[in-house]
Amino acid sequence: MNGRPCVDAAPLDEILAHYPASETALIQVLQDVHRAYHYLPCDVLAKVADALDVPLAKVFSVGTFYKAFSLVPQGRTIVRVCTGTACHIRGASRLIEEIERQLEIKPGETTEDMGFTIKTVNCVGACAMAPVMIVGETYHGGAEPAKVAKYLAETEADHEN
Ligand code: FES
Repeated sequence: MNGRPCVDAAPLDEILAHYPASETALIQVLQDVHRAYHYLPCDVLAKVADALDVPLAKVFSVGTFYKAFSLVPQGRTIVRVCTGTACHIRGASRLIEEIERQLEIKPGETTEDMGFTIKTVNCVGACAMAPVMIVGETYHGGAEPAKVAKYLAETEADHEN
């Protein structure tokens, strides 16, 4: 394990109750686990392996294969900035600088309160809206550095609801 304390098992128990105890449910269980914990905690993966009767190595290999999964804790909201060509040309780096300034972290890092993680991504298929910034599930096309605080605040309000 990685030295982190064990996480609350209650969400996992609830997730496992929805699926057959079989390897066929592995990816769906991992998706639900990621949604519940915002990452795949090592101790949870060990319990998933036991519950589905799948070798732990297989669970880890699935957990590391898919980019959507993270083995390290993520913020409650992932802030993605597209750095594909169209977004790069239209000022993605200025957006990233402003997000870094507001959150005081760099891409790949998570704020101390676990509120946000910043990630850079390749073209998300919305080049006509460049530059694109995605806060949680919300796409902001034509994103402007001056509006970054507003984009982030809207999500924080969602967290409080
Ligand atoms: S380059 Fe950013 S959406 Fe295509």
